Amino acid sequence: MTKKRRSQHWYGKLDKDGFIHRSWMKNQGFPDHAFDGRPIIGICNTWSELTPCNSGLRDLAEGVKRGVWEAGGFPVEFPVMSLGETQMKPTAMLFRNLLAMDVEESIRAYGIDGVVLLGGCDKTTPGQLMGAASVDLPSIVVSSGPMLNGKYRGKDIGSGTDVWKFSEAVRAGEMTLQDFMNAESGMSRSAGVCMTMGTASTMASLVEAMGMSLPTNAALPAVDARRMALAHLTGKRIVEMVDEDLKPSDILTKEAFENAILTNAAVGGSTNAVVHLLALAGRVGVDLTLKDFEIGSGIPLLVNCMPSGKYLMEDFCYAGGVPVVLNELKPFLRPAKTVLNKDISAHYEGAECFNRDVIRPFDDPVKPAAGLRVLRGNLAPNGAIVKPSAATDALLETEADAYVFENIEDLKANIDRDDLPVTADTILVLKGCGPKGYPGMPEVGNMPIPAKLVKEGVRDMIRVSDARMSGTAFGTVILHVSPEAQAGGTLALVKTGDRIRVSASKGELELLVDEAELATRRAAWQPDDPHYTRGYAKLYIDHVLQADQGADLDFLVGKDTRLVTRESH
Ligand code: FES
Ligand code: MG
Repeated sequence: MTKKRRSQHWYGKLDKDGFIHRSWMKNQGFPDHAFDGRPIIGICNTWSELTPCNSGLRDLAEGVKRGVWEAGGFPVEFPVMSLGETQMKPTAMLFRNLLAMDVEESIRAYGIDGVVLLGGCDKTTPGQLMGAASVDLPSIVVSSGPMLNGKYRGKDIGSGTDVWKFSEAVRAGEMTLQDFMNAESGMSRSAGVCMTMGTASTMASLVEAMGMSLPTNAALPAVDARRMALAHLTGKRIVEMVDEDLKPSDILTKEAFENAILTNAAVGGSTNAVVHLLALAGRVGVDLTLKDFEIGSGIPLLVNCMPSGKYLMEDFCYAGGVPVVLNELKPFLRPAKTVLNKDISAHYEGAECFNRDVIRPFDDPVKPAAGLRVLRGNLAPNGAIVKPSAATDALLETEADAYVFENIEDLKANIDRDDLPVTADTILVLKGCGPKGYPGMPEVGNMPIPAKLVKEGVRDMIRVSDARMSGTAFGTVILHVSPEAQAGGTLALVKTGDRIRVSASKGELELLVDEAELATRRAAWQPDDPHYTRGYAKLYIDHVLQADQGADLDFLVGKDTRLVTRESH
């Protein structure tokens, strides 16, 4: 070793400061040799009973520790804020950047040499990666892994996706409320994340495709013994990574992001991946824009999982998981280094597929051209996105009248009115759900279909908003309109009865109202009063970037890799 290990600036000092750092740690029974200069590995854990998707992470942390000790390192586990997607109001996304700050400052302030990130639920994976990237110590991910397939009355049911289907069925009078309630316990029956290809499994798949985890990390079920073994192997590997000084900035290159975009198309991944990848790119200084997502638009849907297909993550795992997908994408993948300190090809070499209906070959896909489409026009000058694999093809090229909900309360109060003046062709517009407006850009973009149309059998309509939608959701839903209404975007000016043109093939989203009329409306427009006037939420509202820039806080973009030299006592 030529360079003094980072942790030795804490634990290698033979003075008052070294005494303090070591002595207090020794109250946990760690022997002298734990501080002898071996790599100290932080295990950054988002375990929480309020984040049920991450409830298995205490066990996985023990697996990581075994591997770290075995490789001659010293593991230390620490908690960071956890974000329970299904439990937090107004939305876990409001706190993604707060988790990223917590992770970044914890890593920087403590005497560790490398980090294992234990996350899983939607916002925990990007929040942890963003924070770790801004310090840039050697880092590797172990994900929660998906729950076992949901089961109800002998059939597989998928997290999220079937909730949306069941709740529409109840509204249509096709399912009893009792049956609806009975499905709850069958849907979530083990530790782990949503077992559809929602945001959690999407982000885990992209982490694997970007080379930030060991191969097979994304799909192994949370309770599969092989995940514990993977945690052990990850613990061993991070110790080696510290000695190799292999950092996120070596792995998260433009090419790695491009591989993630290609993979997102092939797995039918979540629209949320867009904001998360953009924010992460901002941290590592990679120039990624919405336009870069268009490289995925010609990639077919290979993974036949809900919400775009019919299977679930257990099936995806048993069919071979992400390595098989990468093997299919081989002609398109960019060379990129991974946590193995090898090219991404080492992540998929020799991958075998064991079920060709779950992971389709390139020449027999579930759907052709599945990647996300970016839409632009006067209604979204900085872009909006739509997920064709989860949409109704016929609705992707339309011109129709808008019906506008001014905010979420307006929508909730009126969507089920029998006299709502809408037809199946109406374009539903929702305002006030962007990063600043809600705040936090919640997953409400897949507005419910108006009750009177549900009863007529309508199951999809065009919906346009500045919100996000759940990765488990489906429909012809145009999301992330930027700038958002609360920031004075054109969306704020739309009125019921205006014509809107949508063309996914041309990448257009146009409000067909003339400029003079829009100028008049703009002059009369006022933003709503902010929903929060103090605390973190105020900081967020004052500093959040728009969706096309990843909705990070403006002052968090970039990194600071300096060693902290000032002592506390
Ligand atoms: Fe946590 Fe889906 S709600 S992963
Ligand atoms: Mg979600």
